[in-house]
Amino acid sequence: MNASTMVVAFLMLGLLVAPSRAWPDWWDRTREAFQGACDMYSAYSDMREANWTNSDKYFHARGNYDAAQRGPGGAWAAGVISNTRESYQSGLSGQGAADTAADQAANIWGRNGGDPNVYRPKGLPPRY
Ligand SMILES: *[C@@H]1O[C@H](CO)[C@@H](O)[C@H](O)[C@H]1NC(C)=O
Repeated sequence: MNASTMVVAFLMLGLLVAPSRAWPDWWDRTREAFQGACDMYSAYSDMREANWTNSDKYFHARGNYDAAQRGPGGAWAAGVISNTRESYQSGLSGQGAADTAADQAANIWGRNGGDPNVYRPKGLPPRY
Protein backbone atom coordinates (compact mmCIF):
# COMPACT_ATOMS: atom_id res chain seq x y z
CA MET A 1 0.00 0.00 0.00
CA ASN A 2 1.53 3.35 -1.00
CA ALA A 3 1.01 6.66 0.79
CA SER A 4 -1.75 8.02 -1.46
CA THR A 5 -3.75 4.80 -1.19
CA MET A 6 -3.48 5.11 2.55
CA VAL A 7 -4.73 8.71 2.44
CA VAL A 8 -7.71 7.69 0.30
CA ALA A 9 -8.46 4.75 2.58
CA PHE A 10 -8.26 7.02 5.59
CA LEU A 11 -10.64 9.58 4.05
CA MET A 12 -13.12 6.86 3.13
CA LEU A 13 -12.98 5.47 6.63
CA GLY A 14 -13.73 9.00 7.89
CA LEU A 15 -16.75 9.25 5.59
CA LEU A 16 -18.07 5.98 6.96
CA VAL A 17 -17.44 6.75 10.61
CA ALA A 18 -18.58 10.40 10.79
CA PRO A 19 -22.26 9.88 9.86
CA SER A 20 -22.56 6.73 11.93
CA ARG A 21 -21.46 8.65 15.02
CA ALA A 22 -24.24 11.19 14.33
CA TRP A 23 -26.71 8.39 13.64
CA PRO A 24 -28.17 7.77 17.14
CA ASP A 25 -28.77 11.52 17.57
CA TRP A 26 -30.43 11.78 14.22
CA TRP A 27 -32.63 8.83 15.06
CA ASP A 28 -33.63 10.31 18.45
CA ARG A 29 -34.64 13.62 16.87
CA THR A 30 -36.64 11.84 14.16
CA ARG A 31 -38.44 9.65 16.70
CA GLU A 32 -39.21 12.68 18.87
CA ALA A 33 -40.53 14.57 15.86
CA PHE A 34 -42.80 11.66 15.03
CA GLN A 35 -44.06 11.36 18.62
CA GLY A 36 -44.53 15.12 18.78
CA ALA A 37 -46.59 15.05 15.59
CA CYS A 38 -48.76 12.33 17.19
CA ASP A 39 -49.19 14.53 20.31
CA MET A 40 -50.25 17.45 18.12
CA TYR A 41 -52.72 15.23 16.31
CA SER A 42 -54.16 13.84 19.53
CA ALA A 43 -54.63 17.37 20.93
CA TYR A 44 -56.35 18.35 17.71
CA SER A 45 -58.69 15.36 17.70
CA ASP A 46 -59.48 15.88 21.41
CA MET A 47 -60.35 19.47 20.57
CA ARG A 48 -62.77 18.29 17.87
CA GLU A 49 -64.25 15.68 20.17
CA ALA A 50 -64.61 18.01 23.19
CA ASN A 51 -66.37 20.61 21.01
CA TRP A 52 -65.94 23.09 23.83
CA THR A 53 -66.23 26.85 23.48
CA ASN A 54 -62.93 28.73 23.86
CA SER A 55 -60.93 25.54 24.27
CA ASP A 56 -58.71 25.99 21.23
CA LYS A 57 -55.93 27.87 23.05
CA TYR A 58 -55.82 25.15 25.70
CA PHE A 59 -55.49 22.37 23.12
CA HIS A 60 -52.92 24.38 21.17
CA ALA A 61 -50.85 24.80 24.34
CA ARG A 62 -51.31 21.14 25.34
CA GLY A 63 -50.29 19.75 21.94
CA ASN A 64 -47.16 21.89 21.93
CA TYR A 65 -46.41 21.06 25.56
CA ASP A 66 -46.72 17.29 25.07
CA ALA A 67 -44.66 17.40 21.88
CA ALA A 68 -41.90 19.47 23.48
CA GLN A 69 -41.68 16.99 26.39
CA ARG A 70 -40.52 14.36 23.85
CA GLY A 71 -37.31 16.32 23.30
CA PRO A 72 -35.87 18.79 20.77
CA GLY A 73 -37.27 16.85 17.80
CA GLY A 74 -40.77 17.06 19.26
CA ALA A 75 -40.48 20.78 19.91
CA TRP A 76 -39.26 21.22 16.35
CA ALA A 77 -42.22 19.31 14.89
CA ALA A 78 -44.68 21.23 17.08
CA GLY A 79 -43.20 24.52 15.86
CA VAL A 80 -43.46 23.50 12.21
CA ILE A 81 -47.03 22.22 12.61
CA SER A 82 -48.18 25.25 14.63
CA ASN A 83 -46.64 27.79 12.28
CA THR A 84 -48.09 26.06 9.25
CA ARG A 85 -51.52 25.91 10.86
CA GLU A 86 -51.51 29.56 11.91
CA SER A 87 -50.36 30.86 8.55
CA TYR A 88 -52.95 28.69 6.84
CA GLN A 89 -55.72 29.92 9.16
CA SER A 90 -54.84 33.59 8.89
CA GLY A 91 -54.61 33.29 5.11
CA LEU A 92 -57.75 31.30 4.34
CA SER A 93 -60.38 31.37 7.04
CA GLY A 94 -60.36 35.13 7.55
CA GLN A 95 -59.50 34.55 11.19
CA GLY A 96 -58.20 37.83 12.58
CA ALA A 97 -54.51 38.54 12.94
CA ALA A 98 -55.08 39.17 16.66
CA ASP A 99 -56.52 35.69 17.13
CA THR A 100 -53.64 34.13 15.22
CA ALA A 101 -51.20 35.98 17.46
CA ALA A 102 -53.09 34.76 20.55
CA ASP A 103 -53.00 31.18 19.21
CA GLN A 104 -49.27 31.51 18.64
CA ALA A 105 -48.79 32.80 22.17
CA ALA A 106 -50.52 29.63 23.44
CA ASN A 107 -48.41 27.46 21.09
CA ILE A 108 -45.17 29.02 22.27
CA TRP A 109 -46.23 28.94 25.92
CA GLY A 110 -46.77 25.17 25.77
CA ARG A 111 -43.66 24.56 23.68
CA ASN A 112 -41.55 26.32 26.28
CA GLY A 113 -42.90 24.02 28.99
CA GLY A 114 -45.63 26.35 30.31
CA ASP A 115 -48.57 24.64 32.01
CA PRO A 116 -51.37 24.26 29.39
CA ASN A 117 -53.96 24.47 32.20
CA VAL A 118 -53.62 28.25 32.35
CA TYR A 119 -55.63 28.16 29.09
CA ARG A 120 -58.13 25.57 30.31
CA PRO A 121 -61.68 26.85 29.81
CA LYS A 122 -64.11 26.64 32.73
CA GLY A 123 -65.98 23.33 32.83
CA LEU A 124 -63.92 21.44 30.23
CA PRO A 125 -64.17 17.76 31.23
CA PRO A 126 -61.04 16.75 33.19
CA ARG A 127 -60.24 13.81 30.89
CA TYR A 128 -58.88 16.29 28.32
C1 LIG B 1 -70.80 21.07 19.19
O1 LIG B 1 -71.52 21.86 20.12
C2 LIG B 1 -72.51 22.69 19.54
C3 LIG B 1 -73.06 23.61 20.63
O2 LIG B 1 -73.20 22.92 21.85
C4 LIG B 1 -73.57 21.80 18.89
O3 LIG B 1 -74.57 22.60 18.30
C5 LIG B 1 -72.90 20.95 17.82
O4 LIG B 1 -73.83 20.05 17.26
C6 LIG B 1 -71.72 20.16 18.41
N1 LIG B 1 -70.99 19.52 17.33
C7 LIG B 1 -70.53 18.28 17.44
C8 LIG B 1 -69.74 17.79 16.30
O5 LIG B 1 -70.75 17.58 18.40
